[in-house]
Amino acid sequence: MASALKVAYKSLGIANNLQNLYCIILPYPLLFIAIMQRISLLNTAHNFIKKVLHPGDIAIDATIGNGHDTLFLVEQVYPSGLVFGFDIQQIAIESTKEKIKQTNYPNCLALIHASHTEMYNTIPTHYHGNIKAIMFNLGYLPGGDKTIITSTDSTITALNSSCHLLSSNGIITIIAYPGHSGGDLETVQVTNWCDQLDINQFEVHVIYSSTDKQSAPRLFVIHKLTNSNE
Ligand SMILES: C[S@@+](CC[C@H](N)C(=O)[O-])C[C@H]1O[C@@H](n2cnc3c(N)ncnc32)[C@H](O)[C@@H]1O
Repeated sequence: MASALKVAYKSLGIANNLQNLYCIILPYPLLFIAIMQRISLLNTAHNFIKKVLHPGDIAIDATIGNGHDTLFLVEQVYPSGLVFGFDIQQIAIESTKEKIKQTNYPNCLALIHASHTEMYNTIPTHYHGNIKAIMFNLGYLPGGDKTIITSTDSTITALNSSCHLLSSNGIITIIAYPGHSGGDLETVQVTNWCDQLDINQFEVHVIYSSTDKQSAPRLFVIHKLTNSNE
């Protein structure tokens, strides 16, 4: 089974990160993948997304922060696609606006100063069911106010909306950080939320940045299956 997963991940272009891969398969729908060496969850999330997100597609960054993921998404959908970005902090909106201004593709981004709980109401209905990729990077803004963090209730609400907005073959990535206060409960709730997903519609993978500690950050990768009716 481990070698089968290695082949699967090689095809996703993340083989270099998974040289010393040890797999522990737990009951479906969650495949827990323990990785012996520390890997970059951000790069891994980007590699998963690159496989499904193409020029002309629509994507969402649910937590803009400093705009690194937003810029990455815009680069994938350029020149005719669109990224909707959400953040509750004006400073995140402003710094991302500046970052995008310096690129050739400012028209591919719609920044929304609001909670990601608003994504279902804010994104025009003709995009519903057509969103190819949705990224969540939970926690606090690096270099910003560490008391402003994502909260379990709004994260779960936004994840439920994401399932409806996502196209078949679409992908949701969530990076969660159980190591800070609030992040521990949020990670448990995200795990529970993944666990209750319909296995006929969604496939879930969980990748840990390290197996050293329980509090290791982790990446949830959720694929909406082709034959999904939603
Ligand atoms: C870890 S940072 C995101 C990092 C970002 N993806 C990047 O590339 O720099 C988390 C962000 O989530 C934002 N946030 C917290 N609660 C939110 C909510 N309910 N809706 C949208 N953004 C929220 C915070 O303001 C913070 O900027």
